[in-house]
Amino acid sequence: MDALSVRIGCLSVGDRTTEQTAAVEWCQSRGARVDTIDVTPESDSVIDADLATYDVLWWHRDEPVELDRKAIAAAAPAIRGVLESGGRLFLSLHALSAVEPLDIDPIAPDAAGTERIDHPSGFAAKAIHSDHPVFEGFVDRFYTLPAGENRPFARYEAVAPARGQLLGSAVHAGELLPAHKEILSWRVGEGHVYGVGARVEFADNAAGEFSVDRDRFVSNILATLGGDRRPTFTDRPTDAAGFDRLRARFADDHHRPTYHLSPPAGWLNDPNGIIHHDGTYHVFYQYNPMGPFHGTIHWGHATSEDLRTWCDEPVALSPDPDGPDRDGCWSGCAVVDAGGTPTILYTGGRGSDQLPCLATAGDDRLHSWRKDPANPIIPAAPDDPAVLATDDWDAEFRDHNVWAVGDTWYHLIGAGLSEGGGAALLYRGDTLRDWEYVGPLLSGDHDVADTVWECPELLDLGEVSLLHVSNYRDVRYFLGVADLSTPGFAVETEGLLDHGALYAPQSTTTPDGRVLMWGWIKETRSVDGQWRAGWSGALSIPRELSIGSAGDLVQQPARELRALRSEPTFDGSADLTAGEHRPIAATNNALELRAEIEPLGDVSFELGLFESPARSERTVVRCRRDGIVVDRSNSTHDPDPDTSSVRMPIDADGSDGVSLRVFVDGSILTVFANDRHCLTTRVYPSRSDATGVSVAAFDGDLSVRSLTAWPLEASSGDRAFRNRQDRQ
Ligand code: FRU
Repeated sequence: MDALSVRIGCLSVGDRTTEQTAAVEWCQSRGARVDTIDVTPESDSVIDADLATYDVLWWHRDEPVELDRKAIAAAAPAIRGVLESGGRLFLSLHALSAVEPLDIDPIAPDAAGTERIDHPSGFAAKAIHSDHPVFEGFVDRFYTLPAGENRPFARYEAVAPARGQLLGSAVHAGELLPAHKEILSWRVGEGHVYGVGARVEFADNAAGEFSVDRDRFVSNILATLGGDRRPTFTDRPTDAAGFDRLRARFADDHHRPTYHLSPPAGWLNDPNGIIHHDGTYHVFYQYNPMGPFHGTIHWGHATSEDLRTWCDEPVALSPDPDGPDRDGCWSGCAVVDAGGTPTILYTGGRGSDQLPCLATAGDDRLHSWRKDPANPIIPAAPDDPAVLATDDWDAEFRDHNVWAVGDTWYHLIGAGLSEGGGAALLYRGDTLRDWEYVGPLLSGDHDVADTVWECPELLDLGEVSLLHVSNYRDVRYFLGVADLSTPGFAVETEGLLDHGALYAPQSTTTPDGRVLMWGWIKETRSVDGQWRAGWSGALSIPRELSIGSAGDLVQQPARELRALRSEPTFDGSADLTAGEHRPIAATNNALELRAEIEPLGDVSFELGLFESPARSERTVVRCRRDGIVVDRSNSTHDPDPDTSSVRMPIDADGSDGVSLRVFVDGSILTVFANDRHCLTTRVYPSRSDATGVSVAAFDGDLSVRSLTAWPLEASSGDRAFRNRQDRQ
């Protein structure tokens, strides 16, 4: 064992507990020089020691901080002062809760007490920090506590620290609990703080069979804090350079998209507040900066002037520990109010409430937002029809779509109904703060229990309106006529906006009047798979929505994306004989393919994508007269991702045959058929060279009238953000 050659000051208030004494002895047994430092609020000096002489201050505490809150608050100025000028502090067990009274973070852990875990428990390093020195010598996961016995703990569960970053979460018997945020770090001035809220105990052989790993972990922490090579990298950047460093961490991840918007790291779900303001597109999104799992939702922010090149902007909305959005700033929209101020309407989550909140922009770049002191601006869900209550929520009532007709504002909120099915509830107001309930614009699926119509949106497409709702599974759209007074929606046709992994889309109107829609593309890998990746979710490419000559819904990739194309690697036609497999030149997995195929009859056309050199990994887009199947059964050798097939009905037998536009980007595959039908799915080949493309026909010969493959020179996704310097 190498000696722990650091000088440690072990803080405690009043008499040291057995556990605190054991921790001091443990330090001595590791060869560290240790002093005990008493925090005594009664004395004039509070702390009678020169804190700056220690390499590390360690506050290890197995009792709730509430018991000594006064003493801790009294010690705060001295400890903060040391930190500001470069001091190092380790807070373990309940001492993690001292971050708030010590003025290290305004948000304290929301869960603390004692708990009994009936399995061995430990930690999983967050992928983006897996090379952090506190994890030296561990591979991904490790255990520090055997089963049984009540143990002290403090952690962030429903809330996130305002300033700290998460380094690792809990593992119980092999099961990852990402929302149990237990290993954290902070920068305070020039100083560093590490916190571990559970499972680092010394008294009575607490670590038992896991003491070797416990020793290594605690030694790593003290040696890193006390040494001279502490990482300064943060996954909570606030400036362009910081975001660039964060994205650069994924440089070797061939599943990362390059022209789809992805989170800089961590979790992304719904697009929110999409608005074209002052010549710039602003896309906000549901974002968990803590890691690649849903929870502690903030609003992430990206901007673009041309829809190809994107910039990360600082997080726009964060949960407020004292506000109605304490547990999350959920989905919503942005509009410009009558006085010209960009305004966000979003759902605040707190306890069992989800209620409408409002925030106004404080600057033209939409960086700063002021939450309305009157939040929530609608105090409760309406009662006619009765809104669904569940074990978790008093009312399933959330997500916002706001628009103006003349001087009147209209506002749709998604809901589930007690009688079953979902509803889009309509409100009307003279201002964005005062809303009168009108009634359900549309409700449906009454035989479906416990569903909610999330993220409803009403779009004006000329002769008809389009209403879409996300019902936990699909995004359903209704074309018809909206009556905003009665209210009601006369449905003429309906369908699915996408047959794959797209969810909760939101739209905006371009300056030249086109309706563009983005959606959340879900992952189809496990919670563990997402944790290992370090990021989760992406936004779709923008789609232009319009009404075709037959009155049907047309969906096309935004025309701006054509500017991503470089010289085609293939451009011609292909007469395929049955069974023949023809490779098509392609450079990497950032490409667009266009194929115009004659009517299929009994023949099936196959487009092979993500093909490895030996073709042991490949994904097949199989086109038959009645539908397209994306066959993922051989898409990866990794056992984790979902490899089931995804199907989309189409009519590929009309006199015009079938026209395909296919977009491939890292792990994202989107198929547009006949400018009408869309299927977005995820594919995770294990090999980074699984970039091959081929075409084939089966059960007969087939003529592909034209086939073009373009590499897409991505200037969004990670590449855009890396190209930031070039653009400025
Ligand atoms: C849809 C959704 C919304 C909610 C948000 C929370 O994916 O569940 O209803 O506002 O995500 O992140």
